[in-house]
Amino acid sequence: MSRKIAIYPGSFDPPTKGHLDLIARGSRIFDELVVAILRNPEKTSLFSVAERKEMIELLTSGYKNVRVDTFEGLTVDYATRLRATAVLRGIRAISDYEYELQMALMNRKLQPSLETVFMMPAEHYSYISSRLVREIAGMGGPVGALVPGLIEQRLRAKFKSTDSPKRSKAGAPRSKREQSKRRKKRTTKS
Ligand code: PNS
Repeated sequence: MSRKIAIYPGSFDPPTKGHLDLIARGSRIFDELVVAILRNPEKTSLFSVAERKEMIELLTSGYKNVRVDTFEGLTVDYATRLRATAVLRGIRAISDYEYELQMALMNRKLQPSLETVFMMPAEHYSYISSRLVREIAGMGGPVGALVPGLIEQRLRAKFKSTDSPKRSKAGAPRSKREQSKRRKKRTTKS
């Protein structure tokens, strides 16, 4: 039987306990899980791609069937190059669903043989997002419950270089999922 390879694409800026929970779940159902960090030059990020790769590698070193990679361009093209048959994505709440559904159906249109597999993180992680973590850490708030200790340290080090945490704009970069939700809210209200 052929090995089932899945990719778990995302920004991971920074990786959270929710991401780690999903990696643990994915590693149990696929033979190989590739955590794939998108290299997106158009998006401002808090951590560089190299920093994120190193952090996730450290956090997933205990899994024999998980590796970390970076990619540019279409997720479906990257998945095809890797001979992956599935894209793993997490759904935390109904609010994630619409954007994820659209992306999954678009990816299916582009590459019909690639399946998107949605998994839910443990419910106590369902409110965590990288954007909120950046925002809270940038303003000097506690993030120990939201990210692994290593990431907490890296966030602290990152924000130490700014003279006043409140002045940091690091919370600003938003994920596409976040942007899409905000656009929708504005349209519905007007
Ligand atoms: O963690 P994120 O930011 O929600 O991840 C979004 C990601 C990286 C999965 C998505 O933006 C993506 O797949 N980008 C690659 C470009 C692409 O394939 N676009 C078409 C998606 S339908």
